[in-house]
Amino acid sequence: MARRWLKTHLREGLRLRDSLAISPRDQSYEDHEKGMEGYDVARASSPETILRSYFYGAQYGRLERCYGFICECAFPAGQPILSLACGNCAIETKLLMDGRDLVLSDLSRGGFVDAVLRLFPSARFGSLDILAGGRLPGKRPQIVLAMNLIYLFDAAQLSRMFGNIRGLLPEGGHLVLDSAGSPPHWLPVFIKNHWTFWEGYPRAVLKSLKTRRRYWPQRQDFGWMHESEEIVSSAEAQGFRLVKRRDYCHGIDFARIYPIYKLLSVFPALMPAFALCGRILGIPHTRMFLFEAVGDINPDPASTGRRSRRRDTSP
Ligand SMILES: C[S@@+](CC[C@H](N)C(=O)[O-])C[C@H]1O[C@@H](n2cnc3c(N)ncnc32)[C@H](O)[C@@H]1O
Repeated sequence: MARRWLKTHLREGLRLRDSLAISPRDQSYEDHEKGMEGYDVARASSPETILRSYFYGAQYGRLERCYGFICECAFPAGQPILSLACGNCAIETKLLMDGRDLVLSDLSRGGFVDAVLRLFPSARFGSLDILAGGRLPGKRPQIVLAMNLIYLFDAAQLSRMFGNIRGLLPEGGHLVLDSAGSPPHWLPVFIKNHWTFWEGYPRAVLKSLKTRRRYWPQRQDFGWMHESEEIVSSAEAQGFRLVKRRDYCHGIDFARIYPIYKLLSVFPALMPAFALCGRILGIPHTRMFLFEAVGDINPDPASTGRRSRRRDTSP
């Protein structure tokens, strides 16, 4: 069963009694951009600056693992790729440098995407809300990437997302996605939803004293933590077959604990010890999945009398 994921922020000017309220989830691309502390367009002056700022070593190696998994899939050169929810385009920059035929997409086109499109004139952008469905003009993608997206979706939305992606792909096409967070194991649930909030009070007091501004912690409805089995069965019900799976980044959840985060920023070499603990406990932050689109999709079952493999994906 998916579990709610809350994220704590130290908010300036918040009243103490409001700190217990849970603020609503990000809705637009602009909200996400802010939540990720802004995608700094100045850092997109060259592909190398993007990679230095947002890819190499970022998020404890998460993006490098995702990219490594995509490379392992050994997709033939020239196959059109559609990257959903491209955000700051870090993995996409790496793929464009490899000469991949890539379409970037997100809810809307921000300044960061503009900068990437200037650096890679062969790349294209299309705005696509994968829950709303539809397709972008141009070549049909053979591969769809969905990195760090599904934490935003509950079980019904996850199913709708898989159905809409299946509709974009031909039979034999591929979908690569990551779990966008750890499974709903008790430890990551405790760390993300409780520990980081309560440790936020002493942090807020220290920050208020230091800055002479008032801060209190507040939790935000961040998204969902999904079980791997739930992800796979949801995809299978929408016409996908699991081809490959790998687990990575077992230490990331510990790094959300502020003293551990500080310790790791001074002694990054300690990360493998936390990763080992996470491996023993079974809490990979990044679970990668390669799915293949199987069976034909008949968008209008009534016209041929055949039943579509696809379940109803209406809300
Ligand atoms: C955390 S960012 C992912 C950035 C990047 N792919 C990565 O791996 O770091 C999540 C992105 O999902 C996008 N998003 C949210 N809802 C979406 C939807 N329904 N369809 C497509 N993209 C969506 C947001 O605009 C945001 O840029």
